[in-house]
Amino acid sequence: MKKILVLGYTGQLGSALTNEFCNNLELYEFIGLNSQDIDITNFDEINSALDKYKPDVVINTVAYTNVEHAEIEPRLAYELNVFGTENVAKACLENKSNLVHISTDYVFGVRQQKVINEYEDPNPLNHYGMSKLAGELIVSSVMKHSDLLWHIVRSSSLYGRTANASKGTFLLKMLNRLKHHHDIHLNDDHHMSPTSVVDLSSYIANLLSKESGIYHAVNYGTATPYSFIRKAVEIIHRNKLSSDYSYENIIKSQSLQSKVNRPRFSFIGSAKSIGFKMPTWEEALENFLIENKELL
Ligand SMILES: NC(=O)c1ccc[n+]([C@@H]2O[C@H](COP(=O)([O-])OP(=O)(O)OC[C@H]3O[C@@H](n4cnc5c(N)ncnc54)[C@H](OP(=O)(O)O)[C@@H]3O)[C@@H](O)[C@H]2O)c1
Repeated sequence: MKKILVLGYTGQLGSALTNEFCNNLELYEFIGLNSQDIDITNFDEINSALDKYKPDVVINTVAYTNVEHAEIEPRLAYELNVFGTENVAKACLENKSNLVHISTDYVFGVRQQKVINEYEDPNPLNHYGMSKLAGELIVSSVMKHSDLLWHIVRSSSLYGRTANASKGTFLLKMLNRLKHHHDIHLNDDHHMSPTSVVDLSSYIANLLSKESGIYHAVNYGTATPYSFIRKAVEIIHRNKLSSDYSYENIIKSQSLQSKVNRPRFSFIGSAKSIGFKMPTWEEALENFLIENKELL
């Protein structure tokens, strides 16, 4: 039996990891902590939590993820994504816990159409990406001389449902606007791999005993915000999940001028096989909408 401690268990990915491990309690003992239980920017707090629970594996989903705000107040992003991550890695080392740390495709800033694997050099374009890359470098440098396993999992454009319903995610927010017949303006020129936190959680559960290192995990294929939401409506119609959604309210727009420099093409793919295949983004979206039809 493996004891798993998920940091950020009420977040988007953390909620799906909670389901993944709590649905397999014959294999795992599960502990979840969030910002109400612990502040990872305080080393003593995270160190005493690991000393108390003695987990075999810590999965760190905690991050400052607001890309726009990170440009305005970068200090907050660095505090959590760099110094918070350093505290988690050092506490794992001290308490002999393996570490899975979640990172992002935003450590890359690619301007051409090209799939990027784990062996390519990062080049972040904004403070969020820079702070996440610095967190990655700290995890590998703290953990690599130990005999503990450590995994950095980079993913992209997550969607799912959260334990905290007031924190609606992009997909659910857009569908909610469409349901009430409000127009939504979405760009068709930023390409990414929308990834279901349910699939990402299964991927992570399959990764725990694999070789240490960096892994890319996304639902295969690419979409723009515009094509993603249109696909969601097509799936809703085809599966007769609801008749409240209309394509007419989805309006294609140019990307708005923004303070944030974002990668136009964010295509990460994996050159490493762990024996678990991520579904395509279309399959994942269909599974998600069917399994969560009560939210529509
Ligand atoms: N969102 C995306 O599209 C995306 C894409 C690629 C990669 N990622 C990466 O995936 C990971 C998970 O993202 P997410 O969207 O699931 O994040 P999220 O929904 O914002 O969840 C973050 C969690 O961290 C907790 N937390 C925040 N500050 C904390 C602190 N100081 N100490 C302890 N816990 C704290 C929050 O607790 P409360 O619930 O109490 O607030 C929450 O449970 C992150 O590493 C992110 O960089 C995200």
